[in-house]
Amino acid sequence: MFKHSVIVEKLLSNIKVISNPNNKPVTILGGSEELRCIGVGTDAAVFQYVNEPEYAYKLFAEDKKWKIPLEAKVYEELKGSPFFSICYLATDSYLVLSYESGKTLYDCILDGTPIPAQVIDDVEAAISYARERNLNPRDIHLKNIFLENGRAKLIDVSEYVNEGNDYRWEHLKKAYDEFYELIKGKQVPQMMLDWIQSEYNERQYDSMDQFIGDLHSLKVLLKPQLNVQST
Ligand SMILES: Nc1ncnc2c1ncn2[C@@H]1O[C@H](COP(=O)(O)OP(=O)(O)O)[C@@H](O)[C@H]1O
Ligand SMILES: [Mg+2]
Repeated sequence: MFKHSVIVEKLLSNIKVISNPNNKPVTILGGSEELRCIGVGTDAAVFQYVNEPEYAYKLFAEDKKWKIPLEAKVYEELKGSPFFSICYLATDSYLVLSYESGKTLYDCILDGTPIPAQVIDDVEAAISYARERNLNPRDIHLKNIFLENGRAKLIDVSEYVNEGNDYRWEHLKKAYDEFYELIKGKQVPQMMLDWIQSEYNERQYDSMDQFIGDLHSLKVLLKPQLNVQST
């Protein structure tokens, strides 16, 4: 394992990840051709070393590094479930995870890859598994769920040690049940998806009723515009 760990460590040390305010994705400074950036989040950027593609290196912004041991500990508790990524190593600036070859549900919606109902059932099973281990699954949204060979895989588990329900998964599931048929197999423009995301974040729903009301309004508003290319 990690045949190239010294090389990768060196390459990662030349990259700086900087967090941004208002839930905006991190900024990356530096890089190298051998380290491919495979994703960015609000805490970290994730890289793949081209000569050892089975691993994903999650490199945290300086002010988010305190989350590294928490996330590693949660992955340790979740070990053995096929619904979660694997964490092999935690250093003080990054995690070494299993590389997930699928695509996030966010990307599926962008490029029109159909998301099967099995994925929803898998996430429910993953949530039950985590709860049985006294964890509190949270922050489950389109960019933290992968579609991999028709099944779901969850990443980004650091918030599972927090208390309370952010209802993100409940909202997503409701939106899938009520809305997904309308867009299944269609490419949803990124601008539209990002607009929905920012409206959602702004509203900070604390009830299901309010969310369902807005979901219905959104359906009416977007129906005429969703006549986009079928795949
Ligand atoms: N193990 C992985 N394999 C492949 N891609 C990944 C992996 N982990 C993260 N990514 C990609 O990087 C993005 C950011 O990772 P994430 O762990 O969600 O960071 P953050 O905690 O900052 O939200 C994800 O949305 C995904 O696109
Ligand atoms: Mg994330």
